[in-house]
Amino acid sequence: MRTQVAIIGGGPSGLLLGQLLLKHGIDTVVLERRTKQHVLGRIRAGVLETGFAGLMREAGVGARMDKEGIIHEGTGIAHEGGLFRIDFEKLTGNHVIVYGQTEVTRDLYDAREAAGGTTLFECSGVRPQDLDTDAPFVTFLHEGKVVRLDCDFIAGCDGFHGPSRQAIPEEVRTEYEKTYPFGWLGILSETPPVEDELIYANSDRGFALCSMRNANLSRYYIQCALSDRPEDWEDEAFWTELKRRLPEDTAEKLVTGPSIEKSIAPLLSFVCEPMRWGRMFLCGDAAHIVPPTGAKGLNTAASDVHYLYHGMVAHYQDGESEGLDRYSETALERIWKTQRFSWSMTNLLHRFPEQSEFDLHVQAAELAFLSENEAAQRALAENYVGLPY
Ligand code: FAD
Ligand code: DHB
Repeated sequence: MRTQVAIIGGGPSGLLLGQLLLKHGIDTVVLERRTKQHVLGRIRAGVLETGFAGLMREAGVGARMDKEGIIHEGTGIAHEGGLFRIDFEKLTGNHVIVYGQTEVTRDLYDAREAAGGTTLFECSGVRPQDLDTDAPFVTFLHEGKVVRLDCDFIAGCDGFHGPSRQAIPEEVRTEYEKTYPFGWLGILSETPPVEDELIYANSDRGFALCSMRNANLSRYYIQCALSDRPEDWEDEAFWTELKRRLPEDTAEKLVTGPSIEKSIAPLLSFVCEPMRWGRMFLCGDAAHIVPPTGAKGLNTAASDVHYLYHGMVAHYQDGESEGLDRYSETALERIWKTQRFSWSMTNLLHRFPEQSEFDLHVQAAELAFLSENEAAQRALAENYVGLPY
């Protein structure tokens, strides 16, 4: 079997890259470890930068997002019983779009199927090989047979636990990591969102986030202990705790209901350098993870796709290698800025077990400053709506 670009991983990075390359006549095969149903069942991110939305449109898959996605021109930040707003539109002339990762993935699969792109599901033992030669290939087991996929390039879009990053020799690879002493417990419920905009809340009981997917589907998160399990949290206990972390009038308005999904995600900052080894390029969670506080995970994956896709198109159409040669450097420059933002939002909004009284006062002062200072609000807004590619 042969293709131009072998894409390992059929999550949002791999699918978006595949679709953009396909638009330029570049052939790809996507290898996915799970079933399509499994990939579509994962409830993850919900906020898209306009850069991401632009890529979806460029890939020819923006129609449903433009119809059903909800434009958010600002966000609420709650602390000490009050609530203030960061006005993205006024401060940056830009906004974000609330449209779930599940919907993004569904649209991308639909488009790939309609275009006749090859996707192989339930591939096991996927191994990228001979990466530092001109003839890389991937081997894997599919429907009981060992398959070899020869290609010009490999895109490692296989998430944090995938094999691509591990295929970069240890002596070449540097990994930077920061763990946080808490997780996020998230629930999805078929209830109307408590407000039209998201609310990020810092409270003395810990962080909370009110988000949404549509007019009758809400997504809420609370900071929880790393040792907690979703089954430890009855719905009632979740709602009670969430209300305690929100301003009183917001809590009073909150409509509760049975959860239709409940999960816990640990928080992690992680970067792997370089993002290229020979003819393999890492993209998205395969190369980096951010804590979710700034809604940057999926969006950073999209910026990688942007740089990689342009590099590949320049290579195939004009014989230019600079974009691919500079891919790792260019992508990492933006990634580190996003890492900084996600880390600072996490520090600003969570309670840390080791926080001293001094630390708590500094955090409160930072929130107070943010609530009254336009320059500080603009800095947050520019990062939140997305730095330019
Ligand atoms: P993934 O979505 O992880 O996709 C990788 C794909 O590769 C998967 O389909 C996987 O099955 C496949 N794969 C893995 N191993 C192999 C293999 N060996 N062979 C073949 N295929 C393989 N971001 C936010 O902005 N907000 C959030 O609220 C948020 N919540 C999250 C919750 C969880 C539990 C997780 C894990 C992530 C969350 N993120 C969130 C991050 C965001 O979802 C990711 O940044 C985004 O999914 C990255 O896309 P990706 O395609 O790079 O990786
Ligand atoms: C959502 C997740 C985030 O991490 C975030 O910062 C905002 C919204 C969400 O799932 O809706």
